[in-house]
Amino acid sequence: MKWDQSFSIGCDVVDSQHKELVCLVDQLESSLESGLAPHQLGEALKFVVNYTRHHFAAEEAFMETIGFDELENHKKLHGNLIKEVTDILLRLKHGENLSPEDLVKFLVDWVLKHVQEEDQKIGVFTRNRKHVAEQAECRLKAETSRRKLTLARMEKLKDLFKQKLIEIEDFKEQKVRIFTNMLKELGLNQLRAGFDDLHYFLSQNVICHNELRAVVVAFLQKSDLQKGLSEIIEIENKLLYLRSFHEFEMITDSQFDDCKAKILDAL
Ligand SMILES: [Fe+2]
Repeated sequence: MKWDQSFSIGCDVVDSQHKELVCLVDQLESSLESGLAPHQLGEALKFVVNYTRHHFAAEEAFMETIGFDELENHKKLHGNLIKEVTDILLRLKHGENLSPEDLVKFLVDWVLKHVQEEDQKIGVFTRNRKHVAEQAECRLKAETSRRKLTLARMEKLKDLFKQKLIEIEDFKEQKVRIFTNMLKELGLNQLRAGFDDLHYFLSQNVICHNELRAVVVAFLQKSDLQKGLSEIIEIENKLLYLRSFHEFEMITDSQFDDCKAKILDAL
């Protein structure tokens, strides 16, 4: 499976992510020919899922900015794709024997069908609104490079932490501060991507639940929740953040109900 121009949707950031995704799946196909152990396949799939999560967040941010009219439906498709691959990972984890050929075929079909068919609809929309799409891309480029820098810093910290070069107790305060800054750098509009990153570090044991909560607490103390929510265009995202804040006990039940009612009233 190789990248070709027909995959392009006319947004450099998303196109280059699609190229990486196609390349990843291509590598999987090649590894299959030389024989792939189930655990290697599991690792590769895990990587694809993590990668896709970040990619979907960027693609959705782009669609939101250009006002793509099928955004809701497209997001549902992304959600279904993540769910399908996560289900496969769970089946592998529970010892189910799945044929590597079937798994790779599933991924190839998945990428081909989604990127070539569904994402092309974004391409058609973009071509009709070139000016808006250019502005959206500039914003996305800035956000993506900022996020890459942050993630690189986090990975470095993860290594230091794993090598025990930093004492865990000394590190704790610093760690919370760094993660809080990460959320602040991303801003409310990219909060979903920030939460994804934090959950990734949680799964890597770089951060624990209490620290994660401290990060969200510190982040919200410096944010104007009402103002922040008003800047988020999509109702679904507004509700998603609100639920997260509630989950972290950052807002009371009545604040949650009030905010939710206001959001729904504005519909
Ligand atoms: Fe997509």
